[in-house]
Amino acid sequence: MTDLVLLHAFPVNRHLWDEQVEYLTKAGRRVLAPDIAGFGDSQVPQEATMLALSEQVLTQVGRPAVFAGLSMGGYVLMEILRRHPEMVTGAIFMDTKASADTAQARAQRLQVADAVLAAGNTRDLAEAMLPKLLGDTTRAQNPGVVEQVRTWIEAAPPEAVAAAQRAMADRPDSVPTLRSYEGPALVVWGAQDTISPHADQQVMLGAMPQAVAREIPEAGHLSAVEQPSAINDVLLEVLSDWQ
Ligand code: MLT
Repeated sequence: MTDLVLLHAFPVNRHLWDEQVEYLTKAGRRVLAPDIAGFGDSQVPQEATMLALSEQVLTQVGRPAVFAGLSMGGYVLMEILRRHPEMVTGAIFMDTKASADTAQARAQRLQVADAVLAAGNTRDLAEAMLPKLLGDTTRAQNPGVVEQVRTWIEAAPPEAVAAAQRAMADRPDSVPTLRSYEGPALVVWGAQDTISPHADQQVMLGAMPQAVAREIPEAGHLSAVEQPSAINDVLLEVLSDWQ
């Protein structure tokens, strides 16, 4: 049975996966949820590139595994597939997208990087991102999750946020990478996700005809914390099918 490696979104940390780690570990799986460089307990990367973020993950993993990446975690997984496909025995893309940034999105990221460094904190970033990260249902019905995500974002060091934004701004189009990947794949997204909406999922599914597709009702972009039971079930289902 191979390990499952869970790669978190921007700008939170490995605790995004606490419910999945607990559930899947109890189900007998070996699960790793590393912090992506700069977040949680990890060091800010020396270079603001997807390569640096992916290498920092791979040094902690050490052997082939099934990888699941949510949003930025999905971009890291795409970089691993590009550079070290031999490390990936199964690929799970959650609330993410394969396309590169538009010029406008890229400029916006560089502005955010400069703004958080100038502010010296991520409070304004949290305020701006929460309505986009979480779906309508969570924001209306689950204040505990809203406050938890706010706490994670406010704990993110500005230097980590800036490095991740610069790395994401420079990431290439990953559609060719997904087209050349022939292993087992799952594409899963929150029905209320406006950051990586349905059209982005269709592009990934078009590039990987073998992929299983799952839409999670009443979840936005951070599906793992918005509907943890549904995500736990779908992860266990595909892991059982793949191994
Ligand atoms: C994330 O959740 O990781 C971010 O929304 C990714 C992005 O900014 O593209």
